[in-house]
Amino acid sequence: MLITLEGIDGSGKSTLHMELQELLADLDPVFTREPGATWVGESVRRAIAEHIDPVTEATLFVADHAAHIAKIIRPALADGKLVISDRYSDSRYAYQAVTLQGVIPKPEEWLRAMHNGWSIVPDKTFLCVLPIDAALARLKPSNEREHFERRDILEKVQDNYLEFARADPFRFIIVDAMKEKDEIAIFVADSIRQILRSSLSHRRL
Ligand code: TYD
Repeated sequence: MLITLEGIDGSGKSTLHMELQELLADLDPVFTREPGATWVGESVRRAIAEHIDPVTEATLFVADHAAHIAKIIRPALADGKLVISDRYSDSRYAYQAVTLQGVIPKPEEWLRAMHNGWSIVPDKTFLCVLPIDAALARLKPSNEREHFERRDILEKVQDNYLEFARADPFRFIIVDAMKEKDEIAIFVADSIRQILRSSLSHRRL
């Protein structure tokens, strides 16, 4: 079972990921992340820091994803593990669709095509949503932020995420990221347990 956590910078999904490690410890999940689950993530971090061209950056994120699938996701799923990833392919479709706007034609289609045939679609995706002002207030001062962390970019990124959720309401579960962090973590942990239970009972049928 593959669960992913998505949302804009400042949406609290990394805190949520950490809290789930305690709340779901008895299930012994594999906790992982993008970018940076393998050494390929170092080149991604460098590309972000140097603000290299958007095509290089996007393809490095995809390379990081490929290594993540090969080294961590696929083996863990083959072992029957519960895998919980802080960011995954929807981050590309949401962020790089914005950074590649005007650089290549139809960025989202291009990004999705890059994943087709080898990537693994998550079983469920928790999308942390909040007003952009609240997200920006949680981030570092503007001069220390990554180039994605601008208001105009985050607005478009969150709109993209919400569009994906509308298009696939079965996979996406929207989380109100303005709620108290423990309340969010308990809601997501309980939902994951329920999803596991229902997938087990379906398998028995
Ligand atoms: P992340 O490490 O999750 O951010 P944080 O610094 O909050 O821990 O991700 C770093 C940045 O990379 C973040 O702004 C989102 C962006 N990103 C993409 O643009 N595309 C992607 O495919 C991924 C995985 C991340």
